[in-house]
Order: sequence, then C-alpha cells, then structure tokens
Amino acid sequence: MLERLDQLLERATRELKDLRDLAELDEWRVKYLGKKSELTEIFKYIGKLPGDKRPQAGKQANQAKSTLERAYEERAEELKNLQRDALLQRRVDVTLPGRPINVGRLHISTKTLRTIYAILGKMGFQVFEAPEVETEHYNFELLNMPAGHPARDMWDTFYTTREGVLLRSHTSPGQIRAMKHFCPNPIRVILPGKCYRYEQVSFRSDFMFHQVEGLAVGRRITLADLKGTMIEFCRQMFGADRKVRFRCSYFPFTEPSVEVDIDCILCGGRGCPVCKQTGWLEILGAGMVHPLVLENGGYDSGVFSGYAFGLGPERIAMLNHRIDDIRYFFSNDLRFLSQF
Ligand code: FA5
Repeated sequence: MLERLDQLLERATRELKDLRDLAELDEWRVKYLGKKSELTEIFKYIGKLPGDKRPQAGKQANQAKSTLERAYEERAEELKNLQRDALLQRRVDVTLPGRPINVGRLHISTKTLRTIYAILGKMGFQVFEAPEVETEHYNFELLNMPAGHPARDMWDTFYTTREGVLLRSHTSPGQIRAMKHFCPNPIRVILPGKCYRYEQVSFRSDFMFHQVEGLAVGRRITLADLKGTMIEFCRQMFGADRKVRFRCSYFPFTEPSVEVDIDCILCGGRGCPVCKQTGWLEILGAGMVHPLVLENGGYDSGVFSGYAFGLGPERIAMLNHRIDDIRYFFSNDLRFLSQF
C-alpha cells in the first residue's frame, strides 16, 4: 500500500506541473482528491485492514492527502497569477470608439417652465413658492368662493382624509400667501407648481399638471398693464407675429376676468381640428384681482389694485411641439421624453 501511495503522489505532482489553466486544475482535483479518486479507494481499503495495521496505514494516507491538498492550493495560486498577468499584458486599442454614455435630460415640463420663468423674469417677476397641499380656506374661501358657492364646481377637487385639507386644484391660493408675505409692498411674482383635479383624463386634461400663476399688485395697476404683459408674453413664447385676443370670462377671484387666446399656430387662424375650426387657441385665464381678494391678502383695495393670470405649461408645450396627447407627459415613456 505504501508503494501505491508513493506512486500516486509522484504521478499527481508530475501532472500538476503540466496544468495550463484553472479548468485543468479543477479536473485534476476531481481526479486526485474527489469522492471517486484513487485516494478515496485507498482509504476504503485501509478500513478493511487488520486492526493493528490500520493506524500506521491511515497516518500515511492522511499525510499523502495533505501533501496533495497543499500542492493543489499552491498551483491554484500560481495559475491565477499567470491568468492575471496574461490579461494585463493584453494590448488596449486606444483608437476604438468609446462606449456611449446615456445622458439625462430635463423633462419637457421643466424645460417649458424654465422658458416661462426666463420670459417673465425679464419683466421683473420673481418665483414665489406655495404649498401643493392646501386648505379649503385658501383654495376657495379667501378667493371669494365661500362654502356652497357654485363656482367651486369649476375645480373638481381631490380632498384628503383630513377635514378641510385638499390637493390644490389651481395655483391661485398662492396669490393670498404671496400677498400676506409681501403686504404692504408692491408685488410682482409668479407661482409655479403642480395642481390636481379629480376630472376625466383626456388627450387635453390630466389629473395632475403644472400651472404658473402670475400676480402683480401696486398702486396704479390697470387692465392695460395686464394686456401689455400678456401680449408680450405670448409673442415671446409663441412667435413675434402672433395675434392675441382677450375674451370676457368669469373667475370668482378676478373682476373683470378674461381668457387669452392666440391665433392657432397650426393653421394660422384658418381653422383646423386642433382649434376646433375657430382659428383661436385658449392659452390662459386672467383678470384684475377682485377687491375682496386684495383685502383677504391684507391690502387696502381703495389704494391698491392688481392683476393675476394662470397658465398651463403642458398645454403650451403641446402647442409648441405639436404633442397631440397630454397623457404622454407623465407616463414615463423614454421614447417620448428623450425627443426633447
Ligand atoms: C384656473 O385654474 C385659474 N386659477 C386661472 C386664473 C388665475 C384665472 C388667475 C384668473 C386669475 P383654469 O381652470 O382655466 O383656470 O386653468 C388655467 C390653465 O391651466 C388652463 O388654461 C390650462 O392651460 C391649464 N389646465 C387646466 N386644467 C388642466 C388639466 N386638467 N390638464 C392640463 N392643464 C390644465
């Protein structure tokens, strides 16, 4: 048996030296140290030897096994080093084109908002932030819509489980917050942010969208100031030769109230499905701040006057980029978003 162990050790170490990679080393391990190896057979054979011979034979077989295991570990280390050196020596072709990097983009709503900020910023409007979760008091009551006022139906509102707390349905409650903040000084602010409406989602209306509210309060502000600001805004936003039209409208928090239209940028005013054959597209709602709203903001309506307007950036982006469905904006489809 001793002789058999010597032969086994001699053969295994010789073969070990000739191995070229880790795959061959693994085969060697199965052959010499695995469950079906010759060494395992020798151990089984030792079990059948007479009791007095077993200890000595067992000791020698265990020594042989340890020798093989050590040799295996050392060779594994050598082969790993060889493999790493070979990899390091491989030439790098610096002329190969680099891997493309996926660059992030600004969302189309953010881009449109930034354009709006830039235009109105040059006219002296500064951004004022107001909360997205509002109270009924600010969203309606302070805007001249007491409980039960029919105009509340103009805004289908998401209420929270907390009494009197809702997701703002427009940015107009921010008017009161800005007035309370700046009173008694003059104001020229824009209030951008998300609004929520519990209404039928369609190609033109989403349940969440942005608005930008504008508010100017001062001592001699008139409807002419509102008209001039809106005409200038529309021309910078939609093109210098845009026609702008003011239509009488109704909002409880402005008096008089108007809606502002531009001539349809798709058909040039001739009439098409987008402008419903009218030649005009509605862009925003606006008006002179109602005296009661000025008072609620802390201003003396006998001394101060102001105008306000509210526009929808997604609707503006739809017109400028010919986007035919507002639902694309927040469905997170990269095929849509990466076009801008
Ligand atoms: C208002 O929300 C008024 N607070 C605007 C206002 C402000 C009037 C200040 C007077 C003074 P309106 O509901 O029309 O008005 O919304 C204003 C704009 O928000 C619309 O012109 C449109 O661009 C956008 N908008 C309204 N509802 C949606 C919707 N569901 N999805 C996308 N955009 C919308």
